[in-house]
Parts: sequence; C-alpha cells; structure tokens
Amino acid sequence: MAGMEGMPGMTDPGPAHPAVAAAAAAKFTRELPLLKTRQPTARTNGTDVYATRIVDGTADILPGVKSRVRTYDGDFAGSIIRAERGRRVVMVHQNKTPDPSQVHLHGGVTPQRWDGGLMDNIEPGGFREYVYANDQPGATLWLHDHVHHAHAANVFRGVARPYLLHDPAEDAFNLPSGEFDQTLVLRDARFDANGDLAYLMDDAEGRSTILVNGVPWPVMRVTARKYRFRFVNAANLRFFVMALSSGTPFTQIGGDGGLLPAPWQAPVVAISPGERAEVVVDFSAFPKGTRLTLDNYIGPGPEADVGKVMAFEVGDPAPDTSSVPASLVPLPALAAPTVKRRFELAMGEPGSGDMTATINGQVFDHDRIDTTVRWGTTEEWTVVNTNATLPHNFHTHLAPFKVVSRNGEAPMPDESGLKDTVQVFPAQEVVLRITFDSHKGVFPYHCHMLDHSDMGMMAQLKVV
Ligand code: C2O
Ligand code: CU
Ligand code: CU
Repeated sequence: MAGMEGMPGMTDPGPAHPAVAAAAAAKFTRELPLLKTRQPTARTNGTDVYATRIVDGTADILPGVKSRVRTYDGDFAGSIIRAERGRRVVMVHQNKTPDPSQVHLHGGVTPQRWDGGLMDNIEPGGFREYVYANDQPGATLWLHDHVHHAHAANVFRGVARPYLLHDPAEDAFNLPSGEFDQTLVLRDARFDANGDLAYLMDDAEGRSTILVNGVPWPVMRVTARKYRFRFVNAANLRFFVMALSSGTPFTQIGGDGGLLPAPWQAPVVAISPGERAEVVVDFSAFPKGTRLTLDNYIGPGPEADVGKVMAFEVGDPAPDTSSVPASLVPLPALAAPTVKRRFELAMGEPGSGDMTATINGQVFDHDRIDTTVRWGTTEEWTVVNTNATLPHNFHTHLAPFKVVSRNGEAPMPDESGLKDTVQVFPAQEVVLRITFDSHKGVFPYHCHMLDHSDMGMMAQLKVV
C-alpha cells in the first residue's frame, strides 16, 4: 500500500524465545507489580511540573530475559501521573530515542497544541511541553504515543502510562482508596527469538502473551475486603472480555469518562483498546487461600493463554469502612443534536492481503480535513462497522460522547457515562451524541485498534 514503506512492523519476527513458553507455564506465580506514582519535579501554587523522558531501555518481562522496550521514564509497567481536578499539570517530555514521538492524553479535553495530534513531533534529542488544565470530571485517563505512522509500534513497545485525574467530588464517596485503589494496565505482547517485543502490523494472532502491569499472567495477593480496580486496555488490538472465575459479578462504578451515574452488577467487563473500566470487587466473601482467576472470554491465540488474564489470591480479612453508594455522578445533560453524520469503518478482511483501513472510504491524510464542526454545536454521529468479521472501535479526541444506541437498542449500563472510545462490532451501527464546546482546532478521530489507525483508519475534524 502506498505510504506504508518504511513503516515499522512489515517483517515477520519468527519464533519466540523459549522464556515465552516458560512464562505461560508459570501463570499466576509472578507477583503483580503495583504501579508506582511518579512524583512531580516541582510544585507551585496551582501547577505540578513533571520532567519526563521517552527512553529506550530494557524490562524484566519474561523470566531471565531483558527485553528491549521504549517507555516513559524507563518504567515499562507505566508509573502513574496523578492530577487533581482544577490543578494544572505541565509535562516536559524529552525524547531520548532515535525516532520522533508525540504525547497524547487519552480522554483529556486538551487544546490542539497540547493534544499530541500527530504533526507536532518531538524530534530525537528534542523536547516539548504539554499543559493539561484538568478542568474536567475525575477519570482514569492515560498518556500514550501518537506519532504519525508509528504510534501503534511505539505503544506496543511500551510508550504508555496511566494518568489518574482525581476529583474532590469523587473523594467524598468513600470508595476503596489508597492501597485498595489499584490500576491494572492490560495488554498483550509478542516476543522474538531474543525476547524483545516484536511488532508486526495487524498481528492479532501473534500477541498471545497477556501482560498486566508489565508482567505475564501475574497473581495479586489481596486482603479479604473491597478493592477498586481501574482497568486500562492498553493493547493495540485485543479486546478484554473479563469475568471472575467464581462467577461473582463486578460492581462496575466507572468507565472512560469517570464514575457512572450509578453502579451496576456487571457479570462481565468488556473493554476494547483504549477503553477503561472501574470496578469494585469484594473479596470478603472468600475464605483465606481462595484463588480467583480473571478469565478472558474471546480473542485470537491459544485458549489456555489468552483465556486467562491474572489471578487474585485472598488472604486475611482486613478492616473495611469503604462503601459503594447507590448513585454516583449524574450524566450532564447533552443538547439536542443539530447535525447528523455517518462514519463507515472498513478494512480488508483477514487473509484478503488488503492492508488498507479507511473511514468513509479514505485512508488518513494529515493534509485533509474530513469533518468541519461549528463550535458550540451538538452532533449525532452514526458509526458503522462495515466489516463482516472484524471488530473496530471509535475514539474521539477533544470531546467525549454519550452512547445513544447500538443497532437501535439502548446501551448497557457500562456505557451509561460519558465515553471517548466505543466498541463497534461487525455490522453494527452505534449512535453517539457529542458536543463541541471546548476548544477550536484540528483533532483526529480514529479506530483505537492502533494497528488499524496506523493503517489509515483515522480522520480529522476541525472545530471552527
Ligand atoms: Cu488514545 Cu488518538 O488516542
Ligand atoms: Cu485520545
Ligand atoms: Cu479498527
């Protein structure tokens, strides 16, 4: 395909290092790394300043192997940036790698110049400053690379980290907090013969090692009480459709845009690449020593491997004064839409040899504005997956949306809050309502199966 020469991921990586099989055989023995919080470099009255580096290095992912990775600050698992609603965060990113980079705050309502929107590269050896106002409801956001034509490969190599926006309104709820509020970053990986991460374009089949917080199939030792878990799907292509092996439902409290209007008992949590889900799990019902696995229902790869995500091992009871209220954060009223648009997602079916991925028949072109929107308007977008077998999803920068319907039916409670990424299954039509009342400028929207967006399933809107 024109324009794909020189893109990463065009050569088959071949067989994997034997440590990959060893890691698969040793499921649920490696301790889950709890993500560290990155401390600001400086704090002033209203601002936290972070000096960060995009670096190449190694990570201990597989037993006895140093895998080459590319990360923020050398931390493959992804140390957390914690922001407070109403307090500004300034991040100065130095690019210490030999390739250009870009930083995007996924889920952030950010003006164009700090959106990481594609063409403002941080060149090798250079640096760039990003300012985040954090003037939006608390939510589990994440930072990841967004450089044109290579963000899929960069995110796959590890250039991603959580960004938790805390909100005083939320702190009032008495949800599990502190050490009982843990972020679980989910992804998959493929390794080459050296044990390095091997990026091959559109390689859903090959990526069958499941990683949580940077390690394969870990076990988390929990006390017998309630925990809040923030799942981030940082995989390029894999959907995680997860249930607890005990059959116990999750109490889902949050999605992309933060807390839901009300919690609900979710038998399954399903998140596609880019999406987040927050749940509360109460382990107090299980006797000490119980091991629960977090099972995954679908996806390419050997069932024994991709069917398992991680395990929880229940320990001693622990005091617990946390609770989940019956109602959480009401959905803001969205005005009636005055403009309707339709977006058709399409790409070659597996085996067709066609590596073109499009929105409304066109591959991404950064010199083209695909959609012009008037500032202040609310629009209704119908997103259609025209593929017969391939799932897609749809992500908007700048503005979150409300899911109005899926194939004419009202959405499930997991989509009852504001979202920025939505699943669009084969032959489905999803209707969204979206208001453009924050910033003007040019912003991308795309399938967040990042291999697909690098293959062209991305377009640009301009708010005027
Ligand atoms: Cu999370 Cu345009 O991306
Ligand atoms: Cu985004
Ligand atoms: Cu897609």
